[in-house]
Amino acid sequence: SYRDRIRNFCIIAHIDHGKSTLADRLLELTGTLSERELKDQVLDSMDLERERGITIKSHAIRMKYRARDGEEYILNLIDTPGHVDFTYEVSRALKACEGAILVVDASQGIEAQTISNLYLALGHDLEIIPVLNKVDLPNARPDEVAQSIEELIGEPAEDILRISAKTGEGVPELLERIVQRIPPPKGDPEAPLRALVFDSVFDTYRGAVVYVRVFEGTLKTGERIRFMSNGREYVAEEIGILRLERQPVEMLRAGEVGYVIGSIKDIRSARVGDTITHAHRPASEPIPGFRQVKPMVFSGVFPTNPEQYEELRASLEKLQLNDASLTFTPETSAALGFGFRIGFLGLLHMEIVQERLEREFGLDIITTVPNVEYQVVLRSGEVITVDNPSEMPDAGKIAEIREPYVRADIITPTEYIGPLMQLCQDRRGVYRNQVYLDRTRVNLQYELPLAEIIFDFYDKLKSVSRGYASFDYEILDYRPSDLVRLDILINGEPVDALSTIVHRSKAYEVGRKLTQKLRELIPRQLFDVAIQAAIGSRVIARETIKALRKDVTAKCYGGDVTRKRKLLERQKEGKKRMKQVGRVEVPQEAFLAVLSVG
Ligand code: GTP
Repeated sequence: SYRDRIRNFCIIAHIDHGKSTLADRLLELTGTLSERELKDQVLDSMDLERERGITIKSHAIRMKYRARDGEEYILNLIDTPGHVDFTYEVSRALKACEGAILVVDASQGIEAQTISNLYLALGHDLEIIPVLNKVDLPNARPDEVAQSIEELIGEPAEDILRISAKTGEGVPELLERIVQRIPPPKGDPEAPLRALVFDSVFDTYRGAVVYVRVFEGTLKTGERIRFMSNGREYVAEEIGILRLERQPVEMLRAGEVGYVIGSIKDIRSARVGDTITHAHRPASEPIPGFRQVKPMVFSGVFPTNPEQYEELRASLEKLQLNDASLTFTPETSAALGFGFRIGFLGLLHMEIVQERLEREFGLDIITTVPNVEYQVVLRSGEVITVDNPSEMPDAGKIAEIREPYVRADIITPTEYIGPLMQLCQDRRGVYRNQVYLDRTRVNLQYELPLAEIIFDFYDKLKSVSRGYASFDYEILDYRPSDLVRLDILINGEPVDALSTIVHRSKAYEVGRKLTQKLRELIPRQLFDVAIQAAIGSRVIARETIKALRKDVTAKCYGGDVTRKRKLLERQKEGKKRMKQVGRVEVPQEAFLAVLSVG
């Protein structure tokens, strides 16, 4: 059958282990594109992506490969995003494949995302082809790393391919192995249609371009299709395969990968994970596993200039066209005025959105400290969700607050186990297990509150391990915690945008440091300014900014501005951004001050 000569696969790897470079080599060796066309790595296209070197959006590409058995094969390479924020997208991309190439940098060894991606791939029963990459590097340790891969997945160390994606060494053998080891797709082309949406992008002229893997049935141009999660119907005006560009074809059969265009105006109608079927002969069940991705991290975003409010809304709507996981609702802050509360998949997603708002849309924005979403059980028995600290009900009304927990894998050389365990302890982590990957490297498994890792956990982890530890996580569940709302009052007035939710055991320390920090950040005024931290009506810390004396020239800002996070660094020019809170001028930095006291 035609299916015997199709191979659908993806490449999974820890960041920087060479996934994009390997994809380029495969495209080159199969003549899909020339060396000249390769001067940019083609699989990630967005500007921002390029800069960050992280594949954010997955795409697919089809290659033809004449194997040594003389047959011509169709290889569909499905690109997967590499970052924890996009786990669900990775999982859907994997679902579209029968096999995965697991790339491990032979100079670095197994890292956290090697493991998390491997688990995901095994969860989808994929055939795993491990490869050792960068064997051209003088500090490559292929034997040692091969040994730890053998221990991890059972592939005999001597069988593991050693390649250099950079020079091309070993890549022809990898192509052969793809054909030999990865099973061809199954599925009946006559059955009712079931096509998995593994990605979608928005095209200004054509609407949503939906990337699909057909599992059963055959989809033809002009047919009426239905999205099974929401019942919406469209005409498949164009269907095609993905070469370097879209290439229309008449039909896509079971086992094939391609795209569908059908005047779908709203990308949120074409969600990743959904199943497309025929309107006239629908499948009885969708492909399992569809879920709406839920934002996990929230932050308020306000225009510095109130007149830019409508512009901010329009920009967010534009961003949403291409980013179905971005959510926002209007928010009004007594301190910051009109703005939006935005939900993000994670911290990286948040940084990307904030950066795009500023760079692509030229907006001046003030952002508040990111927080997680809480489940709050009221004394009345009602359960509400709170994604904004200033909306946390008064303590007297609350029976219980629950917060999201994650399961974290931290991979580290053994000498950093101590400091890393200390770090997890400080962040209220619950120790679960430690697994040795080889003599020198260990996987520490912890359960941690998400709120404790969204600030600066990653940076701390990198600094205590001198950059050697890597980290990945997945959301586990919600658990009750002893949390309180910490309010900040300026001259007796609570400033809603400065409220945070903290663990009771840390409230005093955070309150003290935060008031101190604010005293440094808020410029002196012509009158004394009192800064207080309070839990409910109880003040737990207080600082005073003394009034400016007339003969003092306005040297306002405190010197100690240690910004460890990039997030803060980005706000450098934000110094001049001031918000009038009551009679007091408050700089943007003050709204992120809690980040530096954690
Ligand atoms: P993300 O997109 O960030 O996940 O990274 P990636 O896994 O796609 O890695 P990428 O292909 O961008 O490679 C990371 C770096 O390693 C680049 O500077 C590559 O040039 C380099 N690199 C990749 N493969 C090899 C190799 O075989 N040998 C050497 N020496 N360098 C390589």
